[in-house]
Amino acid sequence: MIRTRHDSRLKLVGLFGLFATFLATACISPPATKSSAPSDVQPVSAVVPAAEPSPSGHPAPTRVGGMPLFAAWPKDRKPDVVLILSGQTFGYLQPCGCSRPQIGGLERRAMLIDSLKAKGWPVVGIDLGDLHAEKTMLARQGQLKYAATMHALREMGYLAVGIGATELKHDLYKLIAEYTLQKEQRPFLLAANIVGVADGRVIPRHEYFPSPSSAERALIEAIEVDKVGDVTVGVAGVVGKALQEENRKNKWDISIDFPNAKAALENIVATLAKHPAKPQLNVLIFQGPSTDAAKVAQDFPQFQVILCQSDTDLPPLQPSQPTGTTTQVVQVGHRGQHVGVLGGFKKADGTFEFHYQLVPLTEEFITPGTEEEAKKRNPVLPVLEEYAQQVKAANLLSQYPRVPHPEQIKALDLNPPVKLTYVGSAACQACHEAEYKKWKEHHHSHAMETLERYAKRPSLRNFDGECVQCHSVGFRYRDGYVDDKTTPHLRDVGCESCHGPGSGHVAAPKNPQFLAFLSPWKQPDAPKLPDVEFMNKMADIPAAERGKIALPPAQQILINRVQNLCIQCHDHEADPHFDIYKSWPKVNHSGLAPAGGWPTEAPKAK
Ligand code: HEC
Ligand code: HEC
Ligand code: HEC
Ligand code: HEC
Repeated sequence: MIRTRHDSRLKLVGLFGLFATFLATACISPPATKSSAPSDVQPVSAVVPAAEPSPSGHPAPTRVGGMPLFAAWPKDRKPDVVLILSGQTFGYLQPCGCSRPQIGGLERRAMLIDSLKAKGWPVVGIDLGDLHAEKTMLARQGQLKYAATMHALREMGYLAVGIGATELKHDLYKLIAEYTLQKEQRPFLLAANIVGVADGRVIPRHEYFPSPSSAERALIEAIEVDKVGDVTVGVAGVVGKALQEENRKNKWDISIDFPNAKAALENIVATLAKHPAKPQLNVLIFQGPSTDAAKVAQDFPQFQVILCQSDTDLPPLQPSQPTGTTTQVVQVGHRGQHVGVLGGFKKADGTFEFHYQLVPLTEEFITPGTEEEAKKRNPVLPVLEEYAQQVKAANLLSQYPRVPHPEQIKALDLNPPVKLTYVGSAACQACHEAEYKKWKEHHHSHAMETLERYAKRPSLRNFDGECVQCHSVGFRYRDGYVDDKTTPHLRDVGCESCHGPGSGHVAAPKNPQFLAFLSPWKQPDAPKLPDVEFMNKMADIPAAERGKIALPPAQQILINRVQNLCIQCHDHEADPHFDIYKSWPKVNHSGLAPAGGWPTEAPKAK
């Protein structure tokens, strides 16, 4: 049943992808070119989607959403160096798979890089930082995820990673301990102007973040130099003034500060200039907004490339070149959905001609093959699998914080106070046979099985609170789902996922107070949703025109309140196209009461 629905959606995916790309193309015009070669900033829409020769039989995508990749790049030569630019992943390891299509994820990023290597391109990865989630319910899970992301970047050949706001908010030192402290290994953390602060005293970077062993590198360095193909690349990291001020104002990490970005940059530029490896291409990881990055570009033309924070989720199609510079200032968007690929082609005078491709990580980049084949082929998949195993082994499910459900709070105000608990859908079946049957036939009733059996890459999603919270009963609330051993009756999206903890009603079915708790969306003048016929009729009308259909205000409020219930789980990420009018008829279970009403006592087992 689950499979069928899944498959029928597949057909829509390609079409939608195409549409989305066209939209992106139409909305964002490339900046006027300042660089030497006029051909390198061709708008994608101007490119005839001609057939590109597929790279040596490698089954990697050459087009995404119907658009060709690298179409405006020179065909007669290979780039001398290729930078994979990413950042602000915010803890998004993989798309959840709740709806389709979704873009992004580390697995697909690895496939993209693999396909570039297969072209014989010399590739290196550089990440802005903000690997950590913006918010997390469990600090431990955030740390494991940070480490998993760093491991994945290492597998993908990343050289350097910056430090961003999300790391500062989540105990940078603990995050570092999770990965970098283990041994001196790529990718290296860069933030030249980071210092420690203790009792108002500034502690220099090398002292506050000392080398873990006798290694030369401090835990957080200023620069890193490496050979990529035949090109020596110098990468530096600096945290801008805006982030410094935010950190101070919000007290994210008062033991850390980022003074004097400008002095740090002067130092870096001097160090790179006299570096024995003589870097030819200098890249700056700049943790600051694009307006500040533009100023850095103007003051320090020694950096040919600056990777900075993104102003929006959807990144520009091309880098910008701030007035008076030839610097490529790159933004890559949020949540790891896009990756910037910047190719440097050496010119006779030793400078570079740049070509850029923003790549949305669409389903075309999913690793082909069975699970076993995919794991062998894509080195990120075993890293993700290990993460999932760590989450399970640490039994994080049991450590999630729980708050009282609103109805649990109200019930404590009753006289005498009642402690409401979750009883499970089976307990409702006794008196609500018809509603139960309806529910049993619907997707909600096997939401956990979906995590166990159909969610892959990684597996074990039924042990991850970040998935379980919407696929079970009351996970975020007191006495809600914990795990299969403790609360087997609360698997799946059950009656109480919507109706709230039902122990009071089960014990006293006619008690009006408990009845009110079960349906808190009810309005005095609108006790019930419009019938399915009306909902279906609305579903057929484009959303923008629905306002023309007159509905009594109370009825509209009721619909909105039920919708607010649904979108606690059917949110903009899990189900971006959720529509109450289309959805409710599929789960509707109104009007199924037996003649004479529901039994007030559970019928005796036959
Ligand atoms: C012992 C029998 C019994 C059990 C068990 C039971 N119910 Fe009921 N339920 C009733 C009866 C009787 C009514 C009608 C009460 C009335 O209208 O006075 C009712 C009404 C309801 C209503 C309609 C409330 C309203 O007026 O809007 C909902 C919703 C409901 N039950 C949900 C549940 C859920 C969820 C469970 C399991 C947690 C459950 N019931 C378990 C007997 C039961
Ligand atoms: C506790 C979280 C949660 C709540 C609340 C919730 N859902 Fe769902 N819903 C899910 C999950 C999880 C699935 C996917 C189940 C699966 O396929 O395994 C789902 C699937 C569905 C589906 C089937 C998929 C589709 O689009 O055809 C419909 C319809 C649906 N929900 C409607 C609703 C409606 C209407 C509401 C509000 C009245 C609602 N849901 C409230 C979690 C929730
Ligand atoms: C915010 C709530 C929410 C979270 C968190 C969530 N899901 Fe879902 N999931 C849903 C809803 C709602 C649906 C049904 C969406 C639909 O059918 O349009 C769903 C459906 C699914 C499906 C079935 C898709 C299909 O086509 O049948 C899978 C698989 C899934 N989720 C996996 C996951 C995984 C893995 C995670 C954790 C990484 C996760 N979910 C986290 C709400 C959530
Ligand atoms: C996805 C959310 C959701 C789930 C899951 C759910 N319900 Fe409901 N239920 C509702 C909403 C919303 C209404 C109000 C419908 C209306 O006003 O027409 C409702 C109404 C009812 C009613 C009143 C029906 C009537 O004719 O007035 C009963 C009884 C009921 N639910 C029982 C159950 C039982 C038993 C289960 C589990 C087997 C269940 N519900 C699962 C959302 C849900």
